[in-house]
Amino acid sequence: MTQGFSFSVLATDDLARQGEIVTPRGTIRTPAFMPVGTAATVKAMFVEDVRAAGADILLGNVYHLMLRPGAERIARLGGLHEFMRWPYPILTDSGGFQVMSLAKLRKLDESGVTFQSHIDGSRHHLSPERSMEIQDLLGSDIQMQLDECVRLPCSESEAERAMRLSLRWAERSRKVFRERPGRAVFGIVQGGESKRLRIESAQALAGMDFHGIAVGGLAVGEPQDVMLDMLETTAPHLPESKPRYLMGVGAPDDIVEAVTRGIDMFDCVMPTRAGRHGLAYTRHGRVTLRNARHADDPRPLDAQSSCPAARDYSRAYLHHLVKAGEILGMMLLTQANVAYYQELMAGLRAAIGAGRLADFIAETRANWIEGES
Ligand code: GUN
Repeated sequence: MTQGFSFSVLATDDLARQGEIVTPRGTIRTPAFMPVGTAATVKAMFVEDVRAAGADILLGNVYHLMLRPGAERIARLGGLHEFMRWPYPILTDSGGFQVMSLAKLRKLDESGVTFQSHIDGSRHHLSPERSMEIQDLLGSDIQMQLDECVRLPCSESEAERAMRLSLRWAERSRKVFRERPGRAVFGIVQGGESKRLRIESAQALAGMDFHGIAVGGLAVGEPQDVMLDMLETTAPHLPESKPRYLMGVGAPDDIVEAVTRGIDMFDCVMPTRAGRHGLAYTRHGRVTLRNARHADDPRPLDAQSSCPAARDYSRAYLHHLVKAGEILGMMLLTQANVAYYQELMAGLRAAIGAGRLADFIAETRANWIEGES
């Protein structure tokens, strides 16, 4: 195992785990939610505010950063942490998922994926080896293998082909990962909606000496019960001693459900993207600030929040900013959403530690339902 990177489970409540990942750049309290900082910024937020909201780790993207401003340039400028002025841990996604959702003219073969940039149409090739090289250049603390994620629903044979390719890419990624103190690499489970394929993928990755294992290929068009079914099937085949990361998930309710099934890490654009579209996630549920019912409402989003954006500004003011298309509206709502997600994770961690997760979830849900507007 890599020196300087360790994971400990500190408490359990049924299948749920509370723990910590210790790295030289800081400790990541789990279950953890990683705000998405795709293009070396958590959109509309200062990194100081991301930290103040309680985030221990951010997610960055190989795909975006290799295209602009370029991995070699970021390396020359001192690495991603220095570039964006976030000294704490960063996990980077490997690029395959973003190529499939954003790039033009993609062509995938055994070697990797060739694509045209969505920015300027330039051609690029991303192999497992190049993705790991880019993540090393960026200085990423937790690096992800290149994988192929198929959209659901898809045929079992298509899911099997992508899962096997992802396993071969897992081996290649693990092999070229640059061992440096405190740096880790995670494999990614694929397998579509097939229990058989999910189990095989999880077992193969469990035997490959990764520092953690992600579950990919979920929240890609399937109903929530299918996603949870896949998690229930997969989790028992993942090593208990390693962090488990559910990629691209999700809404607060998805996170709660996944935590009860033993997931330790999450990322999603939801809180940041919603914030730019006038939608707040709060302790009182989702609030659509564009709605006229908020125009005269002097109450804040959450009077008890420790986040100034959620506590100190009236819904009427936020409604006005959103309606007027003011940048500050996006900034305040993004900040409030990131803070709420962190508050939810802190609540989950404390509840697992106290052995009262089921009660905490029931109280949390009751609050959401009461306040939806
Ligand atoms: N983000 C959300 N889902 C996935 C996935 O399956 N693979 C990768 N690499 N990133 C993701």
